[in-house]
Amino acid sequence: MLLTTLYSFLVVRNVWAQSSTVDAYVSTESPLAKAGLLANIGPSGSKSSGALSGIVIASPSNVNPDYLYTWTRDSALVFQTIIDQFTLGLDTTLRSEIDNYVGAQAIIQQVSNPSGTITTGGLGEPKFNIDETAFTGAWGRPQRDGPALRSNALITWANYLLTEDNTTYVTNTLWPIIQNDLNYVAENWNQSTYDLWEEVDSSSFFTTAVQHRSLRQGVQLANAISQTSVVSSWTTQAENLLCFLQSFWNTAGYITANTGGGRSGKDANTVLASIHTFDAAAGCDALTFQPCSDVALSNLLTYVDAFRSVYSINSGIAENSGVATGRYPEDSYQGGNPWYLTTLAVAELLYDSLTVWNAQGSLNVTSLSLPFFQVFDSSVAVGSYASSTTTFTTLTAAIQDYADAFVEIVAKYTPSDGELSEQYSKTDGSQLSAVDLTWSYASALTAFDARAGVVPASWGAQGLTSTCGISTGGGGGAGTVAVTFNVDAITVFGENIYICGSVDALQNWDPNTALLLSSADYPIWSITVNLPASTDIQYKYVRIDGSSITWESDPNMEITTPASGTYIENDTWR
Ligand code: NOJ
Ligand code: NOJ
Repeated sequence: MLLTTLYSFLVVRNVWAQSSTVDAYVSTESPLAKAGLLANIGPSGSKSSGALSGIVIASPSNVNPDYLYTWTRDSALVFQTIIDQFTLGLDTTLRSEIDNYVGAQAIIQQVSNPSGTITTGGLGEPKFNIDETAFTGAWGRPQRDGPALRSNALITWANYLLTEDNTTYVTNTLWPIIQNDLNYVAENWNQSTYDLWEEVDSSSFFTTAVQHRSLRQGVQLANAISQTSVVSSWTTQAENLLCFLQSFWNTAGYITANTGGGRSGKDANTVLASIHTFDAAAGCDALTFQPCSDVALSNLLTYVDAFRSVYSINSGIAENSGVATGRYPEDSYQGGNPWYLTTLAVAELLYDSLTVWNAQGSLNVTSLSLPFFQVFDSSVAVGSYASSTTTFTTLTAAIQDYADAFVEIVAKYTPSDGELSEQYSKTDGSQLSAVDLTWSYASALTAFDARAGVVPASWGAQGLTSTCGISTGGGGGAGTVAVTFNVDAITVFGENIYICGSVDALQNWDPNTALLLSSADYPIWSITVNLPASTDIQYKYVRIDGSSITWESDPNMEITTPASGTYIENDTWR
């Protein structure tokens, strides 16, 4: 219902105030991107000879770089696009492709590989050969976003089939695949992972965000088909994931993409996370980093502006206009150039935001999102603006132009045959790295759909509350400092380390709402919490396994927070 309302509304929005350059690009590039994407899917894709049925190659490029493999992440994002287009009625020709994908994933899941067997971690394997055998070379493994993204795509498909009363297929064919992936997510989300760029081994915002979505959707599907034995454990882990997700926010007003990596942390990782967990029903919810949330917009501005000085093709472009963006500003892979899929992700996040603002008939400017909105109207103030106000009209028109400007950049650097590679040159915009990148084509299709106001199905982001007490956005508040607690603690399977203590931000000593630490650097458990500055604070670590709670021995631990800046406390469990 909401979906229909938003969609019909946006068809109206589409009539005014959009760039005609982008209109023209969308109409020529849409069919070319669709054809480019389908060419890379076996068994009959014209550029994917050798790929078995339902197998998506990342790119036909087989040297420098060799992408003639199938990645679980790329394949899932491509099929999320295909499944959304089919289930929303935008392209009714895709059903057999989806059936083939399901068949291929049922096989791939069972293939033993260097990450393990299906029961010992093999689901975290990032890529396979295109004949569905294991890739055994060295690689950044495991990558734990793959099972989450695959189950998100398959659950979207399952939910659609349930509306067609095809419960038998959902229960017998899709559910076993989904359950494998989600048990893996529930059991392993707090273990370290390579990020989506396959470089940093730590915890990663994108991975955490898509894992959170996957378990929420999994619980809904489990209830819908009466597979309720998983509900309690998946719900608990979804709550832990949502809590952990908040910890990536930093006091400089953006999301640090990875807990490791030693970079600025400004990364398309975080923008992709918002668009791939977009749920219009959740409005501009900050807890789930919805596209139009103040945290996502503040983060977006920081991310985009990080690329203005690193690519010469961006020089001279005004701050209220779009630029070429890449994975992260420090990137040097294949020359470290802008990527189509990251530039388009910026546009998509903004189109999603416009859709929600228009549907809800208002937009909010908070102290956190003020710098973002000031780019478009330097006189704007914190407040809520109804769609009847001039401020709303001015801001949304300017943001529409800003979003379109990112697509215009992509259009400018797309060759006339419509081909989209992985990268385009930071000095002259020519195509670089892998040719015909399947994910680039998918990103064009989803950005174009978002521009037309298409809203993907809800996944349950609406009305969630945080159970862990870390407040998003509030992190930058006056008088707080970011304190990192590291504790060396050996645990057994099932046990996790939490912290609580003498102030609100440490849950006032309540072990039932204690804050979960990350084990990404096990045996060091870690968390960063915003605590009152210049304050004596007592705390203890707590070891929790189900309902069993073990406190550290007495006396309480104590720190005095600094007046400003950050603070790191290194402890050993006692
Ligand atoms: C190959 C990976 O696919 C890419 O993401 C990474 O940047 C390079 N290796 C360099 O580590
Ligand atoms: C490198 C990218 O960093 C990674 O995200 C992707 O999965 C592979 N290339 C294949 O496209």
